[in-house]
Amino acid sequence: MIWLCGDTHGLHDIAKIERFFSGPEAPSGVTKQDSLIILGDAGVLWDGGEGDRLFQKRLSALPCRVLWIDGNHENFYLLGERPVTENWNGGRVHKITEDIIHLMRGQIFTLEGHTFFTFGGGYSIDRGWRVTFVSWWPQEMPGEPEYLAGKEHLAGAGHQVDYILTHTAPERMIPFLTQTPSSGEIRLQRYLEEVASTVSFRRWYFGHWHQDVTCGSFRCLWEDIVPLGE
Ligand SMILES: [Fe+2]
Ligand SMILES: [Fe+2]
Repeated sequence: MIWLCGDTHGLHDIAKIERFFSGPEAPSGVTKQDSLIILGDAGVLWDGGEGDRLFQKRLSALPCRVLWIDGNHENFYLLGERPVTENWNGGRVHKITEDIIHLMRGQIFTLEGHTFFTFGGGYSIDRGWRVTFVSWWPQEMPGEPEYLAGKEHLAGAGHQVDYILTHTAPERMIPFLTQTPSSGEIRLQRYLEEVASTVSFRRWYFGHWHQDVTCGSFRCLWEDIVPLGE
């Protein structure tokens, strides 16, 4: 079984996940073969210290494993220090622990028989009060090699995947989202728009906008935690 959820921002917004797996409506029979996928701004690596250890400990205590794509609020310095595992279910990952795994940008994974294209990253609209290399990293926005890798992998898959997982949204979705769009992200939104127009997919899930919105095949997640396909 695979579930998806929006941003967790480390311990700040972890409660929705813990409630989901321990509340009266909690799914039963969940094992570490099942996955919860966090759609960026996960905060798995942030302070490099006690906060990270506590957050990772609480994620590991969940009945399933945790997979995540990066958002804009991640410590990209710490992430970049982690060794890359090639060809984990078809794509590149950083294994933070055995049950907390970062799905890198521009990859295609096969999980439970479904294919997923992943493309994290986003622009911090609160960048003005953040400190470079302390609470903000330029790698929040993808670089050309990542854009290129994504295109190549999609071409290799015949421009067809089952699901697309991103942090921010393709350009066509912006009018349906309530936050003021930022021009800082336009390159990424246009890239994702090109993906949306050229790739056939069943459903596209994203986070970043801190709201729960469904629009056709696109679903923005924030408080909602949904099973794959919903
Ligand atoms: Fe966020
Ligand atoms: Fe974000």
